[in-house]
Amino acid sequence: MKIDFTASAAPRAGAIVAMVADNKTLSPTAQRLDRDSGGAVRRAINDSKFKGGKDQTLMIPAPRGVRVSRILLVGIGKPDAYDANAAFGTGSVIYAALANTADTQALVAVDPFPNMKIEPAAAAAQLAYGAQLRSYRFDKYKTKLKPEDKPTLNNFTVAVRNDRAARAAYAPLGKVAEAIFFTRDLVTEPANIINPKTLADQARTLTKFGVKVEVLDRPKIEKLRMGALLGVAQGSANEPRVVAMRWDGDRRAKDKRPVAFVGKGVTFDTGGISIKPAANMEDMKWDMAGAGAVIGLMRALAARKAKVNAVGVVGLVENMPASRAQRPGDVVRTMSGQTVEVINTDAEGRLVLGDAVWYAQKQFKPHTVIDLATLTGAIIVALGHEKAGLFANQDALSDKLFNAGEASSENLWRMPLGDAYDKDINSDIADMKNVGSGRGAGSTAGAQFIKRFIQDGVAWAHLDIAGVAWTTKERPGTPKGATGFGIRLLDRYVADILEPKG
Ligand code: BES
Ligand code: MN
Ligand code: ZN
Repeated sequence: MKIDFTASAAPRAGAIVAMVADNKTLSPTAQRLDRDSGGAVRRAINDSKFKGGKDQTLMIPAPRGVRVSRILLVGIGKPDAYDANAAFGTGSVIYAALANTADTQALVAVDPFPNMKIEPAAAAAQLAYGAQLRSYRFDKYKTKLKPEDKPTLNNFTVAVRNDRAARAAYAPLGKVAEAIFFTRDLVTEPANIINPKTLADQARTLTKFGVKVEVLDRPKIEKLRMGALLGVAQGSANEPRVVAMRWDGDRRAKDKRPVAFVGKGVTFDTGGISIKPAANMEDMKWDMAGAGAVIGLMRALAARKAKVNAVGVVGLVENMPASRAQRPGDVVRTMSGQTVEVINTDAEGRLVLGDAVWYAQKQFKPHTVIDLATLTGAIIVALGHEKAGLFANQDALSDKLFNAGEASSENLWRMPLGDAYDKDINSDIADMKNVGSGRGAGSTAGAQFIKRFIQDGVAWAHLDIAGVAWTTKERPGTPKGATGFGIRLLDRYVADILEPKG
């Protein structure tokens, strides 16, 4: 969808959208529309339950005296509470309300309200961002879809007094949105299309944004002795890959060490010999969402030319049962030299990540490692689908990520780590086992496992995104399906914390 900004809100066709604050407080544009339509706006409001509450909408079709197809009123609630997240949500609500009209264009007037918490230009950019992200579709495999069944809205223009400032604020967000779409595509593609090789090929396309991409195939992975990652891959005819992506956006940095983002990329997780039940197993095509987010994040940072030195490392495998598959009880030797007793072949993500984070540290000497993984069903039990689990070895990093989550509305909630949990993954015959002894604290057990591969002095956080990578209901900026969770969050973390200001 094409996003545009303009200073004047005088459309001659399509839909016009005007804001209304709490208690039916009409924006200047809504007032003007009311006058031009001979009072149709106020009459429509008074004949409805619409009061201007946040995310309320009221459609007024074919209004007289106004040369548009319809007026859409959108509530913003209390102006003094209207912030970036709220504006993002408004954009999403507007897109959803107009997507199934016949309109091809919409003009949204973002007017100032007294005491509005956010500047109109910033609100306009966020609103456009929310609308754009909500417009995502994946219908390439629908061969019988008729054009009239698809949304026709393809021009979304935001009218705001300082349109230049809005356009400038939107420019980087538009690049991030493209990266999120890229990730959503990768995560939505089924596992017969996206496997370790084809996902690595997709990562390779980042070279066109200036990212240096290195793809390690099986011989190279064997040479590095990533025995845990290879053990997971061993049951599949699809050979593993490890991809390293590098974006050197801050060549003048005093501290040359990069930040490293590491992603779990299990392109399909059957559970292996510890096989999963049939019900909902198809969901496990998105067990590469951590890797997908890392690839999309690297694309976003490069496309918006972020002043940061960042590396992305993804471990790509398929977890299959087979005569050659690893068995429960097998002992594998990781790249770090530590040995692991594989009690449950379905706890495969941590095996992949242990080697991947070790490789990232050895190769790139990062100051910080942040891994993303659809690691445990237990995090869904704890947090549902509203927040991702955050585990960190440092309060400072935890706070920064938590705040980036609040600011981007990709929310995190901190979960515990500790020595007693760590002891619980000791093995009788190897250095560690890949599951805890009891049934409780399953997400922490996974995090403690990864922590054993983090080197001294490295700040580390693990984001368990199993509950948020995919949504079965529409959310702000996200239709049903793959969310791309982690890109907005970590783009924000990079912008607020790592990029030099000014
Ligand atoms: N990919 C799954 C986690 C998962 C489950 C993500 C459901 C999304 C929805 C992971 O590899 C897994 O199977 N974890 C096991 C760990 C257990 C064997 C310790 C789990 O959560 O059951
Ligand atoms: Mn699994
Ligand atoms: Zn998995």
